Amino acid sequence: WPALIAVLSLGYLLGSIPFGLLLTRMAGHGDLRLIGSGNIGATNVLRTGNKKLAAATLLLDALKATAAAVTAQAIFGGNAGLLAGFAAFIGHLFPIWLGFKGGKGVATYIGTLLGVAPLMVPVFAVVWLTLAFVTRYSSLSALVATLVIPVVLWILGIRDAALVTAVMTAVTYWRHKANIERLIAGTESKIGKKG
Ligand code: G3P
Repeated sequence: WPALIAVLSLGYLLGSIPFGLLLTRMAGHGDLRLIGSGNIGATNVLRTGNKKLAAATLLLDALKATAAAVTAQAIFGGNAGLLAGFAAFIGHLFPIWLGFKGGKGVATYIGTLLGVAPLMVPVFAVVWLTLAFVTRYSSLSALVATLVIPVVLWILGIRDAALVTAVMTAVTYWRHKANIERLIAGTESKIGKKG
């Protein structure tokens, strides 16, 4: 139990660092929650027009989950990396610092994959980039990519990671409820648009 609590706490605390919010504020763009979709993730940072800041947000939000997963795995072994990555994902979604109002979890999802099943990162990237190239919707690209990952993991026989990522995918869909409604209504904003 102490080990489990340590793994989950480490993941949660790392995951709850809102890099998008911090970087946007440091760069003088104001409060990210008042821009575009109001989300604290890289897609919304892009709506400030600052591509480098969006890339840095994606990288740091992903790597905080990777760091949690790799550290927990190295110390505790077993499925500790997977659990810490999941905890980081939850930390990003419900950060104590922001009154538990966090992001949508796509970057921390990728970061968890990088930590526990790195071969899934190019799978995610190919699906995301293809969809993004064709549709210009960041949300739709992430929704399809997160659907593919647990299926591929399951087919490869990596069952624990398949089950945990399936839960993460379900949570990701729930967090994208407003995006899904906008996609259906045809009002979702496209990559490169400020709105
Ligand atoms: O990763 C979040 C993305 O899928 C949607 O972001 O800002 O368009 O709601 P946003």
